[in-house]
This record gives sequence, C-alpha cells and structure tokens, in this order.
Amino acid sequence: MKRIIALGYIIAIVGCSSSLQGQAHIPYLVKQGAATQLRVADKPFLMLGGELGNSTASALPELDTVFAKLQQMNLNTVLTPAYWELIEPEEGKFDFTSIDAAIHAARTHNLKIVFLWFGSWKNSMSCYAPAWVKENYKKYPRAVTESGKPLEIMSAFHRNNLEADKHAFVQFMKHLAATDNEQQTVIMVQVENEIGMLDSAREYTPEANKWFNAEAPGQLMDYLLKNKKSLRPQLLRQWGANGFKTQGNWTSIFGEGLETEEIFMAWHYGLYVQEIAQSGKQVYPLPMYLNAALNSRGRKAGQYPSAGPLAHLLDIWRVAAPAIDFLSPDIYDPGFEDWLAQYHVNGNPLFIPEIQLQEANAIRALYAFGAHDAMGFSPFSIEDVADPEKYPLTHSYRMLQQLSPLLTEIQGKGKTNGILLNGETKEKVISRGNYTFTFTHYSSLPWEKNKDTASWSETGAILIQLSEKEFIVAGSGVVVTFDNIWKDGTVTGISSIDEIEWKDGKMIPLRRLNGDQDHQGRHLRIPVGEWNIQQVKLYDYK
Ligand code: DGJ
Repeated sequence: MKRIIALGYIIAIVGCSSSLQGQAHIPYLVKQGAATQLRVADKPFLMLGGELGNSTASALPELDTVFAKLQQMNLNTVLTPAYWELIEPEEGKFDFTSIDAAIHAARTHNLKIVFLWFGSWKNSMSCYAPAWVKENYKKYPRAVTESGKPLEIMSAFHRNNLEADKHAFVQFMKHLAATDNEQQTVIMVQVENEIGMLDSAREYTPEANKWFNAEAPGQLMDYLLKNKKSLRPQLLRQWGANGFKTQGNWTSIFGEGLETEEIFMAWHYGLYVQEIAQSGKQVYPLPMYLNAALNSRGRKAGQYPSAGPLAHLLDIWRVAAPAIDFLSPDIYDPGFEDWLAQYHVNGNPLFIPEIQLQEANAIRALYAFGAHDAMGFSPFSIEDVADPEKYPLTHSYRMLQQLSPLLTEIQGKGKTNGILLNGETKEKVISRGNYTFTFTHYSSLPWEKNKDTASWSETGAILIQLSEKEFIVAGSGVVVTFDNIWKDGTVTGISSIDEIEWKDGKMIPLRRLNGDQDHQGRHLRIPVGEWNIQQVKLYDYK
C-alpha cells in the first residue's frame, strides 16, 4: 500500500484537492518500496535540477534568458532562492515580485521550482534577514560565541527572531497557495539554507546557557530509547559512553565536550525550524527539506557549520523537526559515493540540492538515481555553464528524462544500480539475478591510446533490469562484459544490443549495435564523450 509521508498533512492535501474538484493534489511524498517518491500532479517526478547562484534570481529582467538556458539543458526543475530581505523589505509589508517573476519564467520554460527560503540563516549567517531585523539587534538578538563575540547569526533561542521569520514564511506560503495552487509550478520548499553554528559549537547567549544547563527533553530521550537499534552510530556511541542515561542535563547524558554542545544546538535549531515549517505547511503543505554544509576535512564542531542537518545528527533533527520531510547533503568535498550513502539511510531519501558544478556531475546524476533511488539532483550555479549543447549534463539529463517513466515505475524495487569509474577505480562488478556485469573504464580498452590514468575522466552508467535476461545500460565511457553465477561451464552471450530511446513510455530501437560496435558479440560499450541508452538481451550456452 502506498503511503503519503507526513501523515499529519493528508487532511490538508485532501482539503485542497476537494475544493478544486478533480484537480490534482498539490505535490506530496509517497513511499514506493524502499524509495520515497515526489508526486507532482499525482505522478512520480524525478527532479533533474540545477540551483541558481545566490544573486541570479534577483536580476528579474534576466530570468527569462537564464531559464531558457536551463530548459535547453534538459532540466525540469530549478532551485531558486526566496529572499526574505526582498520579500519583506519593511516590517509587515510584503512584496512578492521576485517570486512571481521566477514562477512566470519557470512556466514559460516548462520548469518546476523548488524555492529556497533564505530566512534566518543562509550558510550559517543571517545576511538575508531584512535590514530592519539586522539593524535592530536588541529586538532580534544575535548568537554569541563562548568568548562573547557577537556573530551575524540570528540567535535560535529568541522568540522575536522565530516569530519574524515565521511570519514572513507563512506569508510566502500563503502567496504560493493563492497563486500556484492550480498550476503547481512550485513543487517543494527548502527551509533556510545550510543552517549551522560557527566559531563555537553552540550559542552562548544567557538564554542558550540556561537551556544547556536544563534537563534534556523527554521527547528526545523517548525517541532515543525507542529507536536505539537504528540510531546513527556516532550518537549511539556518545550516549552509550555515558551509560545510556535517560534523565539529566545534556552533559550528564552525552558527556562533556563539543559533540554534546553540537547535539544540544541541533535540537534547538530543530525546534526553531519545526515551528516555521509546520506553520508554513498549515497554509500550504508542500514537501519541505533542509540542506547541509558537510563536516569534512577532519574539522571539529565549531570549525565547520555545526549542528546543521548533518548525517550524524539525523536522529536529533528527526525528532525535533518532524515537519521537515528529509535532510540533504550539499556536496563540495571529495567522497561523493560515501556522502550519498550517509544520507540515504534509515528512510531518509536522497536528494542532492547542491553539488559543485563540474562535468563529472553528468555521470554522478546517473549514479545517484541508479544506486540510491534519488529523488533529484541539482548542480550549483547551473546558469554558469558556458555551452549547454556540449555540456555533459545536458546529455545525461536527456537520457534521464527519457527513462523517467521507467525509473519511477521501478523505483524502490531494487532493479537498478549506479556505476562510477575513473583512473583509480577502473572496474566494477555488479551482480544482478543470475548474471554478473563487469563494467570497465572505456580507456582500459587495449586499443585506446591514453594510458595516463590520472587524466581519465569520470565515467559510468545506470544499469536497469527489465526482465530476467533483458537490461538497459545508459551512460558514457564504459565497456560491459557479461557472465553468470552458475560456475558449471555455462557461458553467457549477447543475444542482441540495440541503441534505444524511450518516447511516451515506449522503447524505440534506433540502431542494432553488432559487429565492430559490440566487438563481434564480446561486449557492450559506450565511448567516452558519447551518451546513449542501450538495451542488451543475454542468452546462455554450454
Ligand atoms: C553552499 C550554499 O548553500 C550556496 O548558497 C552557495 O553559497 C554555495 N555553498 C557556494 O558558493
């Protein structure tokens, strides 16, 4: 049975749709097998996205040109900021010109929008708070570090801050409900941007200190007890190291130190964001998520943006902010595969709202959908691509667009794999049913001239199982050979390979790939720089 996520909001969704008589529900999340799907107009939707650079969406006359470029790159979704400072330039006076302009440009170019609420926090800081908030720091207090240094970070412990942000966010969501309920161009909302405390692992305002010395909340302790078996390992270790206590203040439960300060701070960021998201969903219940600046390079809490929606804090965020549907990584550091695995965990679906703009993203997108049932993928500052026609992502998004109906039908059912190869990892073996697939980097072919592995580009593919002996390989720069698991002398051969395209849910053969193109029946291959979808049928002989 499919289940709508965020059960508390079903009523609101149903309420919306019944008043519109026969019109599709507004976008919502549903479980399908192991995956969580975004449904748009009641159909599963893979976000082939890109995020705009921070200031691009404020140049309204340029939006049309920018969005036309995104359409040319085969995007179906643009992630674009909703700037609090522009929306509420004077306290209580709202101006949605920038929002309407983005929606208009998106509709013109057949794009969906994920709005990024640049509210109290953007990359830890509060630079998008309107001037009337920033300048009145007595009314809207700042966070301070352990040494008492005030930061341009709105304190998470002060009601005035929360109320001001919440009020603006609710007006924003009301505006979307009023103007976009029918066409549903806006499909999701990111609440705040890369929340995280800097310089200290937690705030040191008197209010924050008071809460830090208070009892840890019973709601959190109940959750930890109930979910002990599935807690993120770091949290479990820390709790266990202090004897799995269920009562006491934060340090008596989690120990002295930066890690405990970070847990405490995450809890309070969570409560703040929960109230904002919940209030927004009450007026227009779109799916809502958070994005995280990752804690990499061995930095300690306070050195990286701490206490944000980080993978090791998943449990804390979940219980503090249930109105947030999932947490997402912004990937600017090495370790792509590892970050994905850290976020696609315990029912948290994978959505990559930001990844550094680079050509390898074309392959990485295929990997994310193939290996992790991703909901979407979105390189940052996507409008900076110089030549959309030649850009690799344009080609992999073209393939993903074609494959979307198939992928969404089988999502969560364990029928896909993602394969990434480079000069170091030249080969990967995938097992699927009775068959093994050896994916090799195209440059490994004996007749390929470039032997300088350090210069090999990232290549790879998505592998999709259609039936027992039929598979699809879509990608670039791979050679695939086939074997079986029987070990009884049976040989697996290629019955046929076709280059195909998917159109209107149907597979259309374009070319029979045989002879030189499959090395006389020995392998399937897609050269580096070429992007295509191939269907292979296998057979066995003795
Ligand atoms: C991550 C942030 O979320 C983006 O808004 C942007 O600042 C990029 N980092 C880096 O430019």
